[in-house]
Amino acid sequence: MAMIYVLDKDIEVPTHGADPILFVLWDNRVTITSICGGNCSCGACNIEVLEGMENLNPPSDEEKRVLSRIKRQGPNVRLACQCVPNGDVAIRIVPE
Ligand code: FES
Repeated sequence: MAMIYVLDKDIEVPTHGADPILFVLWDNRVTITSICGGNCSCGACNIEVLEGMENLNPPSDEEKRVLSRIKRQGPNVRLACQCVPNGDVAIRIVPE
């Protein structure tokens, strides 16, 4: 079973099959913001992937478009509603 490590909250939760990180976090009562409900349009669920980027699906064109217009930028920034882990990942929800 793969794990999602949320470093800024010092917690870890197990992944759920093909569920995106956003929904796994919500299922485990981890607070992460969403305005669009996980529909890849608001950009509010942005996270920084600190380890395990290779264990995530690559960003779709739609995700890239949303990522291009949010304040938080960087090569490791993804949308939690679009990332499905197939191995361990370590993330940061709140920017440093
Ligand atoms: S929840 Fe809105 S883009 Fe992910």
